[in-house]
Amino acid sequence: MRLRIRPVRRLGGRVEVPGDKSISHRAALLGALARGVTEVRGYLEAEDCLRTLAAVEALGAEVTRKGPGEYRIAGVGPAGFQEPADIIDCGNSGTTARLLMGVLAGLPFWTGLTGDASLRRRPMARVAEPLRRMGATIDGRAGGGRLPLGVRGARPLRALAYASPVASAQVKSAVLLAGLHADGAVSVTEPARSRDHSERMLRQFGARVETRGLTTTLEPGPLEASAVTVPGDISSAAFLLVAGLVVPDARVTVAGTGLNPTRTGLLEALQSMGAGLEVAAVEGAGEPSGSVTAATAALRGTTVAGALVPRLIDEVPALAVAAALAQGRTEIRDAAELRVKESDRVATLARELAAMGARVQELPDGLALEGPARLRGARVASSGDHRIAMALAVAALVAEGETVVDDVACIATSFPRFADTLNALAGGEAVTVEP
Ligand code: S3P
Repeated sequence: MRLRIRPVRRLGGRVEVPGDKSISHRAALLGALARGVTEVRGYLEAEDCLRTLAAVEALGAEVTRKGPGEYRIAGVGPAGFQEPADIIDCGNSGTTARLLMGVLAGLPFWTGLTGDASLRRRPMARVAEPLRRMGATIDGRAGGGRLPLGVRGARPLRALAYASPVASAQVKSAVLLAGLHADGAVSVTEPARSRDHSERMLRQFGARVETRGLTTTLEPGPLEASAVTVPGDISSAAFLLVAGLVVPDARVTVAGTGLNPTRTGLLEALQSMGAGLEVAAVEGAGEPSGSVTAATAALRGTTVAGALVPRLIDEVPALAVAAALAQGRTEIRDAAELRVKESDRVATLARELAAMGARVQELPDGLALEGPARLRGARVASSGDHRIAMALAVAALVAEGETVVDDVACIATSFPRFADTLNALAGGEAVTVEP
């Protein structure tokens, strides 16, 4: 599947983005772990999150679809899970695999996990290691460091105070989920603060979770079902907002997007580049959300490094497009994690944006871009990475001539209606999807 994109002069309107991917995964897992019935609204019906729903079903939870994005999850409680009859396929979804490993660590049976070619290349040892220390048995390819792998859980697990070498919400969440079944408190200390959706939702489900500085501590105990409303995904909004900044005559509002401060680093980076974003946030039950408006702006280069990086890690593809078009130099550092995402995003962004005329240099831990570039239409490819595909489509909106982005079926993992949404903003067929 490919996208054919022609440049546009204008972009305008108010749109919504689909549900937050990270929060949807957590709603499915906590709903299954809890006692009682969890009603979820706004669940992201994209491939990655549907994988997590299928996984909890395979483990014995009862999942009923009541309408678009509306699910009823009858929790099995910690004792009711059953050994799945087959290997669980996590598809392209790192969050499914890694958070599930945390859940499985406390279930006293064997479960096999696999994924697509991209996921089978991604590191799992970062999660396997602390879970083993807690008493789970994990073995598989590369000594359990790559999928396929098997988890044989134990109960109770041992309490653990874990100092994570990476600022990863997936590692933190896996340890916290396992901690529900531990014989004492578990804590995770991160080198920088990662997204805190698990902590917020665990609290909402009655768990005792506390964060002090960079350390999060959970006391073991049961979860009680709770209603969850999933806000829009700011990581999907990112592409539309950057389009709203770089298209010559644009004003784009994304309504109902999540605005959790551990996820809004992109907005700060864009503001430091000269974007006059309008942000209207409201506190929700568990998660803040609101609307963000972006209008055409003359952007200038910036430096993104340190503690800001985990707060915008998934937005670097969108940010790189803004940086390519900004006046001066942008450096994105301390972001080596980009190399182990759905693709090696440092390499794929450098290669594909360069093919469109961007001046971009690969750094060991990030990217340097020199702008403003005059982008030209080209034939580029996503490397099977949804966020690369969408970033290239945004770049194509301001390139000279037509662009074809190959290998875009992956967009369905997080934002199935991406092309339609861009066309609604463009008021016509800027993007066509070809088989
Ligand atoms: C996610 C955490 C991040 C992020 C991923 C989703 C999550 O990964 O890149 O898209 O839902 O916890 P890491 O935990 O590996 O940093």
